[in-house]
Amino acid sequence: MQITQVRHFLADDDLDHQELLEVLRLAMELKQDRYSRETFAGPQSVAVLFDKTSTRTRFSFSAGIAELGGHPIVTETGKSQMGKGETFQDTGAVLSRFVSAIVWRTFAQANLEAMAETATVPIVNALSDDFHPCQILADLQTIVEHCTPDSRPEQLCGLKAVYLGDGDNNMANSYMLGFANAGVDITIIAPEKFQPKQQFVDRARVVAEQTGATVAVSADVADVEGADVVITDTWVSMGMENDGVDRRTPFLPYQVNAAVMAKAKPEAIFLHCLPAYRGSEVSADVIDGPRSRVFDEAENRLHAQKALLVWLMEHQPAEEK
Ligand code: CP
Ligand code: NVA
Repeated sequence: MQITQVRHFLADDDLDHQELLEVLRLAMELKQDRYSRETFAGPQSVAVLFDKTSTRTRFSFSAGIAELGGHPIVTETGKSQMGKGETFQDTGAVLSRFVSAIVWRTFAQANLEAMAETATVPIVNALSDDFHPCQILADLQTIVEHCTPDSRPEQLCGLKAVYLGDGDNNMANSYMLGFANAGVDITIIAPEKFQPKQQFVDRARVVAEQTGATVAVSADVADVEGADVVITDTWVSMGMENDGVDRRTPFLPYQVNAAVMAKAKPEAIFLHCLPAYRGSEVSADVIDGPRSRVFDEAENRLHAQKALLVWLMEHQPAEEK
């Protein structure tokens, strides 16, 4: 296969179903044998850029790039010329002369797309207002580990996941798109005013048609019934802190607590991308209880992102001389 275009990972559907399974298999291999790949030997550098705060993403990408033999250059974009208005296109062209890949946490999805117009190295979305696809890779790896009979990614097909809370945020969009891509049935359960925008539901359903998954939206907590995986996220995403919207009262009936977990399958697990706010979107007894897998999920950010970077580097167009 001759690859002619730079492969980026800006949204969950930038990998097709088979490619997603390849990345998940590699993630599981890397978890077993952490230092087995030297993709960035040299060391080559990778830019890791932040427009928003982060703990997991900053540390997992920094450690992961180093473990692949490379050198992470972590920058708050407010301290770069991007913060003073240098265009994303110019920045993409310039960084491509220095680094082997660009990892970027930003606001608008359009920012990533603008940089992708000129970047000649892969760009990875480390969270935008619309998607958080790296988190989905880690979540899927965690579900493979805990919910499939032989820990094989292809056994994800047919599992049922439910996500409760803010249905109109990056995590909900990525759960629809990424889980549909994996073949996992996904239901977003959210108050009417905070349900996903139709464009994201439609995009996930296009992917679901290929894998046989279902994508549903509901306001009824009773739809947790039969779930293998129960998920939530903060009610106040980064950038929404001062938008004047009441982000507590409408969500209170959607808190994941013991009563909600009791509706899921007895062996169902609980996931949360973190950071979590106990007493808001999740009760302490659930997130700190026996069904919670949130720290495995956090660890898997490292393995899944390393796998993604290895996969992307192996699927780039040959350099033109
Ligand atoms: N889940 C996640 O992306 O965490 P950080 O915001 O700490 O990076
Ligand atoms: N929806 C959250 C995810 C944090 C990892 C946010 O965007 O703040």
